[in-house]
Order: sequence, then structure tokens, then C-alpha cells
Amino acid sequence: MGADPAPLDPGALTPEQVRKFQTDGFLVLEHFASPEEVASMLSRADALVEDFDTAKHPRSVFSTKDQKRTSDAYFLDSGNHVSFFFEEDAFAEDGALKQPKRLSINKMGHALHDLDPTFAAFSRSAKMKALTRSLGMARPTPVQSMYIFKQPSIGGEVSAHQDSTFLHTSPKPTCVGVWVALEDCTTTNGCLWALPGSHGEPVKKRMLVDRQEGGGPETGSIRFEGEYPDWLGDDAVKKTFTPLETKAGTAVLLHGENVHYSAPNRSPVSRHAYSVHFIDQGVAAWDDANWLRRKEGFPFEPL
Ligand code: FE2
Repeated sequence: MGADPAPLDPGALTPEQVRKFQTDGFLVLEHFASPEEVASMLSRADALVEDFDTAKHPRSVFSTKDQKRTSDAYFLDSGNHVSFFFEEDAFAEDGALKQPKRLSINKMGHALHDLDPTFAAFSRSAKMKALTRSLGMARPTPVQSMYIFKQPSIGGEVSAHQDSTFLHTSPKPTCVGVWVALEDCTTTNGCLWALPGSHGEPVKKRMLVDRQEGGGPETGSIRFEGEYPDWLGDDAVKKTFTPLETKAGTAVLLHGENVHYSAPNRSPVSRHAYSVHFIDQGVAAWDDANWLRRKEGFPFEPL
């Protein structure tokens, strides 16, 4: 009889969970965030939106369908701020919001994990460190964070993609996303869908920004290299996506090359989630051609 294995640190994965993540390219972790952590993130998001003055911000829309609309300086600089992006269907023809501000925002990001005390505490918790370390990351470093509202009725779709398209490292991709449901997610309110085993394929497409010498993070124009297959246009592939119906507090771990999407939310129920992406600075470096660039004096800090 062997000795019982040493108990794992809270957040650390078992060897079986690591194997499942390596096989599928995603992993569902129930009860990852405590009810207190979920409540604090929900109420902090509420306060941030309350303080957000729509009159002082550009009406930047987040869309995965029309990239030109996201290619503005506000978007390119948002890795340095807590910026707000509206749902595509938030505005009436006259440009006024069709519903209250708190029901109009698609997401806020992308430096919550460094700038906001509530989100920083969760993103940099001992639990998060144990989780990323148990995946073998030598120097896990959060680079991007988002609070996603998936608003009732107008919550926009996120088309099928690989996260390493947007968050690339060299000489190899090392991105891992930790997506946490803050409300219950179902197929009716736009839960995540993931394609098992798709991370075995390389990154199909890269989003790059050509910047001029000396230009700040907000400068440059976005271009793409490569093409995604039409995963959802192919019925045989479409039916192999797994719906990830999750209770509030559940985390979904996403390999950077995993293919995933979420459908629009046409239901009357919102679907809030917080997502933070890590790279491994122990074995790879942030690619300066990524859309997200930090300004001088605001480097990425490992956990
Ligand atoms: Fe994603």
C-alpha cells in the first residue's frame, strides 16, 4: 500500500484533470470561485458601470463580425485601462441608447487584473497561482482581463476563434484562458461552446498590428494573417462542439488554440462572466505585434 498523495493546494489540478485538459483543450472546474468572490466581482462591476460616464467616452462597440469597428485607438489602448465597449445592438437609429447604460455594455477590459483591486485580488490569488502552476506554467503572467456582460436580449455573439490569434507569444504560443461564470450560463443565454481536441491544430490566424517606430499602444492598424475554417458552417464539425452549461462560480480553462464560441443572448436573462488570460513568460515572450500593448512603465507582472 502506498502513502496517500499529499493534499493539493486549493486551485491546483489533479493529474487526471491535467490529462483531461491536455486531451480536450478545455476543462470545466465547478466551484472554482467562491460565492463571496462571485458576489464581490458582480458588485464591483456594477459600481464600475455606475461610475462610467457615457458622455465622456467614445461609443466603441465590440463586434467579432466587423473588425473595422473595433480598430480604433480606444480599443488598441485598452490594455492599459478599464475601457468600456457597447453591445452592437445597444443603440437606436438616432444614436441614443435603447436601454439603460447598465444593460448596454458588452464588456469592459482589458487591465482589470492590474488596475482594479477586486479583480486583481481574484486574478492574482493563491488559487490562480496553484491552477496555472499545476498546468506546468513556469512564470504565469496575466496579460488580458475582461468582464463580459452578455446582456439580456442584445448580448452579442462571439464567433468561433482561438485565443492565441489575439494573444500570441514567441517562440511558441503559451496562452491559457481562465473564464469564470458569475451567473448561471445555459444554451439559452449564450453559454460557451468548445470544440474538443481542436487545440491539436496550430493557430490558424493571427491578429497583428503594424506600429510605427515610437508610436504609442493606441497607434497602428490591425491586419490578419491566415484564415479560420468555417467551423460552424460545417454541420459535421458544428455538432461536435460541446455546450458548457455552467453554474455561477464555475471556471472554464481554455487552451490558447482551443476553438470556442458563444451564441447571441436573445433571452431575458443576463450572463455575466470574468475572463483572464495568462501567458508563460518562463518559456516565451509577448509578441509585440499583438493588438494589446502596454505603455512604458506598465509592464506585465507575473503572478
Ligand atoms: Fe476566447
